[in-house]
Amino acid sequence: MDKATLTYKDRTVDLPIIEGAEGEKALDITCLRQSTDLITLDVGFQNTGSCTSAITYIDGDKGILRYRGIPIEELAEKASFSEVAYLLIYGNLPSREQQNIFSQRLTQNSMMHEEMLRFFDGFPPTAHPMAMLVTMVNALSVYYTDYYTQDFQAETFDIMAASLLSRIRTIAAYSYKHSIGEPHVYPKRDLKYASNFLYMMFDSPINPYVPDPDIERALSVLLILHADHEQNCSTSTVRLVGSSMVNLYASICAGICALWGPLHGGANQKVIEMLEEIRKDNMTIKQCIESAKDKNSKFRLFGFGHRIYKNYDPRSLILKNFCQTIFKKFNYQDTLINIAMELEEAALKDDFFIERKLYPNVDFYSGILYRMIGIPTNMFTVMFAIGRLPGMIAQWKEMHDSVPLKIGRPRQIYTGSHLRHYIPVDER
Ligand code: SDX
Repeated sequence: MDKATLTYKDRTVDLPIIEGAEGEKALDITCLRQSTDLITLDVGFQNTGSCTSAITYIDGDKGILRYRGIPIEELAEKASFSEVAYLLIYGNLPSREQQNIFSQRLTQNSMMHEEMLRFFDGFPPTAHPMAMLVTMVNALSVYYTDYYTQDFQAETFDIMAASLLSRIRTIAAYSYKHSIGEPHVYPKRDLKYASNFLYMMFDSPINPYVPDPDIERALSVLLILHADHEQNCSTSTVRLVGSSMVNLYASICAGICALWGPLHGGANQKVIEMLEEIRKDNMTIKQCIESAKDKNSKFRLFGFGHRIYKNYDPRSLILKNFCQTIFKKFNYQDTLINIAMELEEAALKDDFFIERKLYPNVDFYSGILYRMIGIPTNMFTVMFAIGRLPGMIAQWKEMHDSVPLKIGRPRQIYTGSHLRHYIPVDER
């Protein structure tokens, strides 16, 4: 057995080295504390693995991303989003029969309980779509109690997973309709995943909407590219919350909250706001790059940098190429993509970015494509959540399938006061 030996004072312990499917190695410290009285400290978990997983493989140095072993480039080019969702959750691409059953399950679970519509009356039209999404996803556990259970059963999981995957789309579209004061549009049983979402978003009694196949494909590619990304902040949150044996809806709800942050899934909205600010203020690319490097400047180059990728984020490359192709096809113009590409070119030549291996990440171009589709900027992170849902569900299932299920409970190093005692208020 490969091992590392740790010696501390009069104690020596052999720590096993475990090796992953692609040769990555980890020091297994499960026995560290009882052997040495030591714990580890790793703020932000930059060097710490929380689990083993067979779902997604990332090689950050080579810019590799695979779902269940299949390269993201192939899935983005050839697969449907529902196929990718099935692949991530169940481990393999579905057979024709499995795909039909899965699609029927998504269709059967695409409508929300009519009483849930009343929740929207409580939201002001200006409510952020992520706030509405989080509320409504958690509310699913109120109306679909027969599908969630503390003692996790396979058949209830299948229904819960389909219910979440299908209804998150409906919730997102209804929140958009609520924000623009239009009546919500019910899902159609003969539309596929992405086209049904577009239909619910943009159809109206006076302006019928027929999803364009190229636009539908663009949305599917966006959803596929976001579908999983191993132990990122929000998916780790789903695992941690799920490890308490709470139901899937509540676990996913916690993950969506984590995704909202501007350092994570909220970055796609911040990228567009940044590009619009650059255009409005007539900032030069040089000014942007210098500001991004200035620690005292509040300007940050959103959509750049990544904890894992120290090379191109492959998703960013796919999106950039897809934007250029579809923009040409529709003769669509958006000066923001020109600013984005000039920013990228300048950053990749700048020593600050080169030394820190900062490249465009998935959020740098995704917003530009959402804009073309007609998605409002404040819904970009909602779109990220819809795309990421299969991965969150797959990781939750993988954790529950692993035995024994251990509740997540990190340690700490205490740096507060030594022992002291209560002092009555008049003596303080
Ligand atoms: C996502 O984890 C995932 O897989 C996430 C994700 C997924 O699919 O789930 O890929 C999705 O969240 C993508 C990231 C979206 N966020 C952004 O675009 C926000 C901007 N990027 C950064 O804030 C940052 O790069 C992070 C948060 C993405 C990563 O942060 P790290 O790994 O903690 O790195 P760091 O902040 O310590 O930065 C290291 C250095 C620092 O400089 P020094 O202190 O060494 O001088 O790089 C600098 C940082 O100041 N830096 C940046 C920068 N990102 C890092 N400088 C300018 N602009 C940036 N965008």
